[in-house]
Amino acid sequence: MKVNVHDPRGEELAQVLVRATAALAQVPSPRVDAELLAAHLLHGGSRSRLQHAALMGERLTPAQVAEYEALVARRASREPLQHITGCAPFYRLELSVGPGVFVPRPETELLVEEALKVLSARAESATGQLRIVDLCAGSGAIAAAVKSELPNAQVFAVELSEDAIPYARKNLEPLGVHLVQGDALTALTEQAGRFDAVLSNPPYIPPGNVPADPEAALHDPEMALYGGGADGMQMPTAIAARAYELLAPGGFFMMEHDDTQEGAVAELLARVGFERCYPVRDLNGRSRHSAGYKPAAAGS
Ligand SMILES: C[S@@+](CC[C@H](N)C(=O)[O-])C[C@H]1O[C@@H](n2cnc3c(N)ncnc32)[C@H](O)[C@@H]1O
Repeated sequence: MKVNVHDPRGEELAQVLVRATAALAQVPSPRVDAELLAAHLLHGGSRSRLQHAALMGERLTPAQVAEYEALVARRASREPLQHITGCAPFYRLELSVGPGVFVPRPETELLVEEALKVLSARAESATGQLRIVDLCAGSGAIAAAVKSELPNAQVFAVELSEDAIPYARKNLEPLGVHLVQGDALTALTEQAGRFDAVLSNPPYIPPGNVPADPEAALHDPEMALYGGGADGMQMPTAIAARAYELLAPGGFFMMEHDDTQEGAVAELLARVGFERCYPVRDLNGRSRHSAGYKPAAAGS
């Protein structure tokens, strides 16, 4: 990106944005990213304020241009936008993220939405506090979103990665979510059979399916992506079984997966013992999550 600032009043933001957009031609949404990076640097992260400032003819000093262009260069090398800004929008929250933690994805908001439909109805009829756990919590996205919508629920989040834990702590502690650093397959044993809901976005990608986006392939931690086994189903299989153990009779389970895994997950949930199972599809009709209930008559 070539800078040419001769005007002593500095360079117009609008012009700088045009140049940055061209420099970001290889990323999926160049103009949006150019604006978000500028908003991060100059306007407290507010894209609308940045757009307004550009329209009003705001000018940048050479130092500001240089700082901005360093951020643009990082993004052009396909460093995730969220790593550069340090935050990721998720549901109605802004979560802290960075190197070492999985960046929460829009498709996971669908899991939160569906779980909240089920759990809000339960919260109204429940006599005590709802108990909900997010297994494989990463930045804590699911737990944070659910707790912020159901503040009276007791919410737990389990995450194994030492690198992810500081982000999860920052996102979850202010909300009052109980964060457990440990293996999702063994943590919270003392509370087995006592949860109203288990929610999970575990690693599930099959070993050969390296994500096409460099942002994911190079920057999401491997332990967040690959599910293990030839079909990526090792971790989802173990999570479903663990969820069944943790749930109280009648408890709700919902898990994210790849759309190619719909059939395998349906079989898995039935085999583990869940009933009333159903897939949840995204706007393109792709099955990205599956849910089911532990039978009300089941022992824990
Ligand atoms: C696909 S990411 C999902 C993160 C988060 N739930 C979200 O939706 O943004 C999967 C997460 O599972 C964690 N993980 C992998 N194996 C685990 C295990 N055995 N116990 C707990 N967490 C695990 C990874 O470190 C990663 O943070």
